[in-house]
Amino acid sequence: MTEEKTEGRTTTFRLFRFDPDKGLATSITEYTLSVPRGMTVLDALIRIKEEQDNTLSFRCSCRMGVCGSCGMFVNGLPMLTCQTQVVELESDTIEIRPLPNYDTLRDLAADLTPLFEKHKSILPWIIRKDAGELDDPKGEYLQSNDNLDWIYQFTYCLKCGLCLSACPTAASDAEFTGPQALAQAYRYMMDARDEGFDRRMEIIDAAHGCWRCHFATSCSQVCPKGVDPALAIQLLKREIVLRRLRLAKAGPAAEILTGPVKDAKRKEGVPEAPPKSVP
Ligand code: FES
Repeated sequence: MTEEKTEGRTTTFRLFRFDPDKGLATSITEYTLSVPRGMTVLDALIRIKEEQDNTLSFRCSCRMGVCGSCGMFVNGLPMLTCQTQVVELESDTIEIRPLPNYDTLRDLAADLTPLFEKHKSILPWIIRKDAGELDDPKGEYLQSNDNLDWIYQFTYCLKCGLCLSACPTAASDAEFTGPQALAQAYRYMMDARDEGFDRRMEIIDAAHGCWRCHFATSCSQVCPKGVDPALAIQLLKREIVLRRLRLAKAGPAAEILTGPVKDAKRKEGVPEAPPKSVP
């Protein structure tokens, strides 16, 4: 693609429209925009809203791939619109819809409440057996470098919800805990400072828990941060089997069984853990 062709290229945006105040009717509205090099899909939506139709609704905040609020279904794939340049899509027509597997609040804004509810359900914080301990800590909770390295990739989650929108199991089972929450469950369960493995196992080793995952891996393919939830879920299944068979010790997360995650397959593009700061 030459620079000439990408400068100010005219692109048609077909945008899904839904106004809950006007009933259940939905429609597609077309807008045409001159797209210069470097314009992201989110930039284009903001330009359309400012210059052509101020009734258009969508969600965004940081515009730098950090807050996770601008996820949409662009030309049939879930993606962060602030992290996707229009020219990368290599199409003169771009169709944008709200994320699938969620209800739609208005136009391109999906209701991510189920994502946050599922995330909360796996108790996404450090659990100690003495519940009052974190309010009155007696000292530092040390974590080894190997343990940090093991879970580091999974801490990158933005809670953008793209993985859940791409998940075929979530599409057929609304109660499925989902890739985002399960990956975060694994992240906390394998944290050596955490003592909540058994509590979370009761939540996850359940009818709509990790065993519903068919390892389609679409969650990992769309994750904008390379978290690789599909990998986390398979590792989680392994840990649960080991605990159930009493082949792994109960209690605080054991130090790593088989080596750091990068040996298991660190997703391409995910940086290494920071340099060791604790001997
Ligand atoms: Fe924050 Fe896109 S606006 S991730």
